Amino acid sequence: MSPAVLNTLEDFYSLLSTSLKNQSVVKLLLSKYRGEDKSLNRISIRPITLQNEAVLSFVFEHQTNHITKNYDYLSALDEIKTLIGDTFKSAYLTLLDREVQIEFSKKGKLQISLHKAKQSQVAPANHNREKNRFVDIQRPFLTALKVTDKQQKLIPAMSNKWKQINKFIEVFNQALEVSPHDKKTPLNVVDFGSGKGYLTFAIHDYLRHTINNDAQVTGVELRQGLADLCNETAATLDHQGLEFVCGDVKTHAPKQTDVMIALHACDIATDYAIHYGIRAGASIIMCSPCCHKQIRPQMQSPELFQPMLQYGVHLGQQAEMVTDSLRALLLEANGYSTKVFEFISLEHTNKNKMILAVKKSKVNAQEQAKVLTQIANIKAYYNIQDHCLESLLNESAL
Ligand SMILES: C[S@@+](CC[C@H](N)C(=O)[O-])C[C@H]1O[C@@H](n2cnc3c(N)ncnc32)[C@H](O)[C@@H]1O
Repeated sequence: MSPAVLNTLEDFYSLLSTSLKNQSVVKLLLSKYRGEDKSLNRISIRPITLQNEAVLSFVFEHQTNHITKNYDYLSALDEIKTLIGDTFKSAYLTLLDREVQIEFSKKGKLQISLHKAKQSQVAPANHNREKNRFVDIQRPFLTALKVTDKQQKLIPAMSNKWKQINKFIEVFNQALEVSPHDKKTPLNVVDFGSGKGYLTFAIHDYLRHTINNDAQVTGVELRQGLADLCNETAATLDHQGLEFVCGDVKTHAPKQTDVMIALHACDIATDYAIHYGIRAGASIIMCSPCCHKQIRPQMQSPELFQPMLQYGVHLGQQAEMVTDSLRALLLEANGYSTKVFEFISLEHTNKNKMILAVKKSKVNAQEQAKVLTQIANIKAYYNIQDHCLESLLNESAL
């Protein structure tokens, strides 16, 4: 049983150790730093699960950036013992039901106080459920992007974005499992139309922090202001190998790319992004198309469909289905195994379709020829003269 009174640091370490074992630690904050590193403010320590292993995640909060280090429980306890009292004069341990404060006076006198938790903390069941998400809610990038607040609690207005980030990483992780790429070789990732960078930061953090892949991640964004903002945010975090450039997917110079992402890139920007991914030989192509304007005016549907297509909304849905089916089939014809499925809806759009393509290790020429015939037949049926992705592929094959 844990003690009702704590007199010494040893009592405190014993309480910490027991609480880690029974999963009742919420966080430990070390502050009042008096060490040599003038940029270090405090260390925030939390239990997390990394690849099914329970670890303590230390976030070293410097003035301009955050550095994360993870330790197994035993090493973490050793590390904490070297920090409290020596360089950190204050520590605050939050347990599910209690809080412990440690203070060293200027003269080095130790004071330990123990009291009931001020607010009800996350119950163990929720705590575990949160840990089972693909993204750890306590990651600093989520606070920097204002998905979570300074206490690393989800900002209610961002709950859809939080779900989307998790689903995106879950889908990516499954694609990586089946892709020909091994998890250790550093990946080159490009995210076209990166916007405010939520997914770009998330994939970078997942690769670098969760699966220890020294990935290089580039967000390409048409608007200079957004690229600058994301670079400024990246500079405040421990996010090596992450950069945002102002550029247009239509003209972005090709470079080695293993993963191509384009979520909600407008209209034919999606075709340019897929074309880039295919040319670069990317192992994984993930896109979520947005607005389907190119095909719609070209399409001529059979007389039989007219009663259905008199309702304008159906014209749009038909154009969307045909455009994305042709994209998926063109990916198949170019050596990818492709899925089209519902992803997750967003606060600002109901577009939630994802085209996910993973490069096959072997291609079957006969199957590819069959798919090319299917594409030609669909185009002929609807009298489609020009599908942007197909034209781009034909041009680059010349
Ligand atoms: C709807 S936002 C999506 C942002 C992000 N991908 C997401 O899903 O959260 C689309 C972004 O693509 C950018 N964009 C549009 N056309 C582009 C192009 N041709 N090249 C690069 N970025 C483009 C826009 O400026 C915008 O920031």
